[in-house]
Amino acid sequence: MMRLLGKTALITGAARGIGLEFARAYIAEGAQVALADINAAAVAEAAASLGPKAHAVQMDVTDQASIDAGFARAVGAMGKLDILVNNAALFTASPVTEIARADYDRLFAVNVAGTLFCMQAAAKQMIAQGHGGKIINMASQAGRRGESLVAVYCATKAAVISLTQSAGLNLIAHGINVNAIAPGVVDGDHWDGVDAYFAKYERKAPGQKKREVGAAVPFGRMGTAADLTGMAIFLATPEADYIVAQCFGVDGGNWMA
Ligand SMILES: NC(=O)c1ccc[n+]([C@@H]2O[C@H](COP(=O)([O-])OP(=O)(O)OC[C@H]3O[C@@H](n4cnc5c(N)ncnc54)[C@H](O)[C@@H]3O)[C@@H](O)[C@H]2O)c1
Repeated sequence: MMRLLGKTALITGAARGIGLEFARAYIAEGAQVALADINAAAVAEAAASLGPKAHAVQMDVTDQASIDAGFARAVGAMGKLDILVNNAALFTASPVTEIARADYDRLFAVNVAGTLFCMQAAAKQMIAQGHGGKIINMASQAGRRGESLVAVYCATKAAVISLTQSAGLNLIAHGINVNAIAPGVVDGDHWDGVDAYFAKYERKAPGQKKREVGAAVPFGRMGTAADLTGMAIFLATPEADYIVAQCFGVDGGNWMA
């Protein structure tokens, strides 16, 4: 089935993990994809591994000039932009008393401002094209409720859910659907980093936190990036035209909205 035949997408943070898996899935559905990432070498390698329908774009979502240049490159390479996935994000964890202001600033710059100003860049392009579009923001179960050691990341993901609501209401007037996906715990490089924070602050053995969170998922295991692609494809198709400003949990039952 080629549910995205002829469509073009830009995915931020696509050099690895969930963004890379989404790029693979979109291409398998017939789309062209601009993989945008701050890590130029990694995103070039990732795009090369996906073949001619993948385009590598070096982009720092915290830098407006880099966003503008990156979207222009992507549109230049693909001819138009139908779909944006705001996927780039950073994670930190610490007790409240140890939160560093620099970490707070960096996480809000990437996770929140990056999401907002990439939405803005995509919306301008889609409005100029005149036939709507799809924007998918990566939120998290962490945006649904706080976590003791994860105040800053949780707050950024709550902000992503809020931005999805406001932008969703504003942009549907142009036929642009803005929705979000809230994953639970997804195995990969990102969670290896999370595990290391918990090893430090909860004095756990390396790998122990991952086993615990996996065992606590009602489905019975951690998610994989591939578990999320069905929702990412669906939200990019015309079947999702009437879905506006929503956030969908794809988390094995961890959270009930
Ligand atoms: N992995 C999980 O358990 C999980 C759970 C819930 C939500 N999420 C969300 O899903 C998304 C993807 O997660 P992942 O696990 O694949 O993360 P990841 O850390 O593996 O990948 C993130 C990518 O973003 C890129 N990036 C970082 N800063 C950037 C910047 N300034 N500009 C452009 N790119 C930048 C990195 O280079 C990296 O390639 C994130 O939004 C994350 O918060 C992940």
